[in-house]
Amino acid sequence: MKRPCRGERNVAYTVPKLKDFSAAALDKAVEKLLAALEQESGALGNGDERKAFRDHWLARKDGILTQINELWLKAAPKEAKREVGQRVNKLKTEVEAKVEAALKRTPAAGTESAIDISFPGIRRAIGAEHPIIRMQNEIVSVFKNLGYSVAEGPVIETDYYNFEALNFPPNHPARDTQDTLFLANQQSKARREQLLLRTHTSPVQIRTMEKMKPPLRIVIPGKVHRNDPPDASHSPMFHQVEGLAVDTNITFGDLKGTLDHAMKSLFGSDVKTSFRPSFFPFTEPSAEMFVSCFICGGSGKRGSDNAPCRPCKQTGWIEILGCGMVDPNVFEFVKHNGYDPEKVSGFAFGMGVDRIAMLKYGLDDLQLFFQGDVRFLEQFG
Ligand code: PHE
Repeated sequence: MKRPCRGERNVAYTVPKLKDFSAAALDKAVEKLLAALEQESGALGNGDERKAFRDHWLARKDGILTQINELWLKAAPKEAKREVGQRVNKLKTEVEAKVEAALKRTPAAGTESAIDISFPGIRRAIGAEHPIIRMQNEIVSVFKNLGYSVAEGPVIETDYYNFEALNFPPNHPARDTQDTLFLANQQSKARREQLLLRTHTSPVQIRTMEKMKPPLRIVIPGKVHRNDPPDASHSPMFHQVEGLAVDTNITFGDLKGTLDHAMKSLFGSDVKTSFRPSFFPFTEPSAEMFVSCFICGGSGKRGSDNAPCRPCKQTGWIEILGCGMVDPNVFEFVKHNGYDPEKVSGFAFGMGVDRIAMLKYGLDDLQLFFQGDVRFLEQFG
């Protein structure tokens, strides 16, 4: 489409006053006016000038058609009024039609021809994997290499999968609104159907065992929520990677060997692991696993001046995950699909991705992950 070059201004048409109202003079004036209209329509772009163009010709106040009324028709001597009136009417219809046609021909801004290919392009920065997703993928791939497959489940869960089938007793504190974010207006539903934001990835253990028969080896990455106000080490939304292995004759030794291997893959072959007794309703026995601090090497001190190591609080050990042998009560909920607690056994574990990412990247504020500051995020690109 023909457009005026930048810098070039069209001198807009103005309606001349007429001295001569003869037919020939009127023809000439009309011809000039139509030529100007033709020229302006041809130069019409697709931005704001569309409105200006329309107003210039058709606006009630001071538009060219209005001016013609004033300057040509009203100014005409009595004897010429009839002739001028007819011409002006005809001209009005013609101008209106031509203006509308010109506007139709030129698409409004935002359509394809609004692109001015003479402008420099907009450079879009290439995005990078978010450090949490990167950490999550790294953990998942350690288990994939051991033959685990990836399972996922919904972030909005029922009480049944998040608690009941995981052997949480009815009045367990985790079921309190202090810890769990429940969806509103669920009171009319049976407790097991009430919806909540899952507080851990463990419900996917049950969901997967309902669908797949043993033997089973799965890792489950995903988002979880807890009713914690955000601070340097808490966030109401965070990420976990869960694991579950079920087969005949799975022992606590398999659990320890598997997790020890995983920690060495993630933090280096020098790290040691330590298991301390713990409690989860869905594992028995349960443990918390610690790795020797990969920042101070387990000494609790850093550098030549023996500064206290903060990440391990000078203990030399960092708590990494919860784990245990699948409680037989959990298998009871999926017994119909081949998980007879007399025949199969298994282990499970769950770790917080965000915390591990913080330790690995040496951060002291969890909130950095969620603020979306590109200057922070691009360092992981
Ligand atoms: N779901 C537990 C938590 O969120 C972690 C866990 C998973 C513990 C699997 C044991 C087995 O704290």
